[in-house]
Amino acid sequence: MSSPKQPVLLRAERTLRETGVNADAPETSAPGFPATRMRRNRKQDWSRRLVGENRLACDDLIWPLFVIDGDNKRESVESMPGVDRLSIDLAVGAAKEAIDLGIPAIALFPNTDAGLRDDLASEAFNPENLICRAVRAIKSEAPGIGVICDVALDPYTSHGHDGLLVGDRIDNDSSLEVLVRQALVQVEAGTDIVAPSDMMDGRVGVIRSALEQAGHKDTQIMAYTAKYASAFYGPFRDAVGSSSNLKGDKRTYQMDPANGEEALREAELDIAEGADMIMVKPGMPYLDIVHRLRDAFAMPTFVYQVSGEYSMLSAAFDNGWLERDRAMMEVLTGFKRAGADGILTYFARDAAQYLAQQS
Ligand code: PBG
Repeated sequence: MSSPKQPVLLRAERTLRETGVNADAPETSAPGFPATRMRRNRKQDWSRRLVGENRLACDDLIWPLFVIDGDNKRESVESMPGVDRLSIDLAVGAAKEAIDLGIPAIALFPNTDAGLRDDLASEAFNPENLICRAVRAIKSEAPGIGVICDVALDPYTSHGHDGLLVGDRIDNDSSLEVLVRQALVQVEAGTDIVAPSDMMDGRVGVIRSALEQAGHKDTQIMAYTAKYASAFYGPFRDAVGSSSNLKGDKRTYQMDPANGEEALREAELDIAEGADMIMVKPGMPYLDIVHRLRDAFAMPTFVYQVSGEYSMLSAAFDNGWLERDRAMMEVLTGFKRAGADGILTYFARDAAQYLAQQS
């Protein structure tokens, strides 16, 4: 194993002293100084660029979009300034914009009509549901973009939970059956990636085998692997209209924010069950998890900068408390540094536009 940093520096310091290079350095100086001055590489813009370790690119971005019924309809999400729910025709426009900006993929989330939500989430596996219609429209009019669909029942249940409620519990195994049907209609509509975000045990495996049996051998699964029971999903639940329905919380299926080791076990399972990509969610409070999963599994690892993270940054931007572009790029680059291969972010369009201006 490599020795800790300090002894290496002390050794170098001793060598420099012995060879006379650093002979004048006072005994009290920091190890390595002044032979080593970290600021030399930071002196000029060209040099900072040259030694830069991580760089955000448009290729790293996934843009989540909220879809509603209607025509040429755009509704703002109050708790997410700058984010709108879009009717399918406008979502197609957004997909084309994303292609022009070089964003590789979009993730679609429906705000299902209240009248279509029920205890069994039946609308989730209706092949004509909003999400399936959106996927078909985008795939036919903007075929160049990757489309990701969320697999979870919360936009379709009357109680706002991701699975089926039996008594006062979210029932794992009966939820799996519905999730499989939901994933199949999405894939048949043409989605490229299904992203189970429900956190039921075994869901990646049952979806993978159902896809295999139905001949969809090459559909990718992006597993919401380490999805925490977070306070930061609040604005998303407004956006998809599930917040007022939600009874209780999601702590019996989403992870405890205190746990890190458990994320490794979740990842092991998702990978064994056939996930092609794993994800950590939320982002900013969980950078250690991103880093650990990327290191441990060397899998394509994604991070979701969730609605609440967007909202808190946007609120600060709108108040003039934080500098928009700089703070946005700092946070997104931080995800890359932690090891993320890509980022789901409501800033995707803004970041892509910013990157385009820089080049
Ligand atoms: C659905 C789902 C949620 C998010 C993505 N998929 C909400 C939740 O689990 O309650 C949150 C995304 C965000 O906050 O931006 N299961």
